[in-house]
Amino acid sequence: MPYRLTVIGTGYLGITHAACMADLGYDVLGLDIDADKIRRLNSGDLPIHEPGLEPVLRRGIESGRLRFTTSYEEVAAFGDVHFVCVGTPQKRGEYAADVSYMDNAITSLAPFLDRECLVVGKSTVPVGTAERLAGILTQLAPAGVQAELAWNPEFLREGFAVQDTLNPDRIVLGVRTERAEKVLREVYEPLGEVPVVVTDFPTAELVKSAANSFLATKISFINAMAEVCEAAHADVQQLSLALSYDDRIGGRFLNPGLGFGGGCLPKDIRAFMARAGELGADQALTFLREVDMINMRRRARMVDLARELAGGSFHGCTVGVLGAAFKPNSDDIRDSPALDVAVTIGHQGGQVTVYDPIALDNARKAHPELKYGDSAVEAVRGAHVVLLLTEWQEFVDLDPEELGAVVATRRIVDGRNALNSEAWRSAGWHYRALGRP
Ligand code: UGA
Repeated sequence: MPYRLTVIGTGYLGITHAACMADLGYDVLGLDIDADKIRRLNSGDLPIHEPGLEPVLRRGIESGRLRFTTSYEEVAAFGDVHFVCVGTPQKRGEYAADVSYMDNAITSLAPFLDRECLVVGKSTVPVGTAERLAGILTQLAPAGVQAELAWNPEFLREGFAVQDTLNPDRIVLGVRTERAEKVLREVYEPLGEVPVVVTDFPTAELVKSAANSFLATKISFINAMAEVCEAAHADVQQLSLALSYDDRIGGRFLNPGLGFGGGCLPKDIRAFMARAGELGADQALTFLREVDMINMRRRARMVDLARELAGGSFHGCTVGVLGAAFKPNSDDIRDSPALDVAVTIGHQGGQVTVYDPIALDNARKAHPELKYGDSAVEAVRGAHVVLLLTEWQEFVDLDPEELGAVVATRRIVDGRNALNSEAWRSAGWHYRALGRP
């Protein structure tokens, strides 16, 4: 392999990128400022839940091709191509993204860059960030213009991170020189035939914001239809199915329910609006405010439906909540609609017990005020209302009779339109779902 790679930031994106690149045969050095995490990673212990990633990480460590460090000096000496994968969360009390981790990564790395290399941003950032960082890089790096910036946004989904990294739909390269394009094409060559779009910095940055905005809009579109369906006594599930047969619309990301959460979609559409405002293009994105509001209304509607089933008030009511992660096959609880609903019901006087197959530890740390069960059955024992809020397969496969035997009353709200309503109704459950009669 012609290049040695480094990966700065070991979140969902960074760990996956580092482990997959090592699996493709590269020598890879990962960096994080969290020494504890680095120790775990170096012993092959994955600090997050991501299906299929641990064996790839272990293979990398055992082969000697993959290591992790906390030293920027070591990273600079080791790498020809440095991928920056740090987080860009929403600023507290603001819509804008906090890019300080990105700035810190560049200002920490640059002073050690004394030879030709490529620094590649992969994080989701406000458009214009790459150009600003490129300036900082040339200013601080002893190698000057020989230490060049490129922008290569990442589109992986949690839960499918390995698959998405090794078989991406497309590769977007924001580059300023032929050299940068050549290096990155070579780096990704082992992935085989993948469409590559070569463009400038701002376009590369915008592709990512646009993609996540489109996905969020699609989800909020079907959830808006769910609101109308509820008012008109129609069935949004059947509506969505009928729409999906039109190739121009397509069925993916058209599942109505509790809406989107996680560390990306909600904060990305907000950061995009904030950035458009700074650029004087805020009108172009006012629709994203609606997208956000439709999404947040689903959570409120869920609480209302649950309260309705509880008889008008949560006081003296036990609520069993199935799901804490923002989506199935993930332990991520960032901006999780499920936990948001659980916490709100708790505030309104309900006795809430939550169960999730993987995200319980994270949920406990973030919300020690809630009660937790060790299984679905334990969480719903004695419940007056059961809420399905994350569509884990384990919940889809639940036996309505088995659950019915432990609850106080057989009432369930299916927040993800994931259950077989007929089966639950015929087992004597009062079954309700968002957007359905
Ligand atoms: C999302 C994008 O899908 C990735 O392409 C992108 O790379 C990533 O953000 C990122 O910016 O890093 P992710 O946050 O892992 O990926 O999750 P998604 O699978 O997109 O799901 C987001 C949310 O939408 C979940 O809460 C999910 O339950 C919800 N959703 C999804 C729906 O409510 N309905 C749907 O039909 C689909």
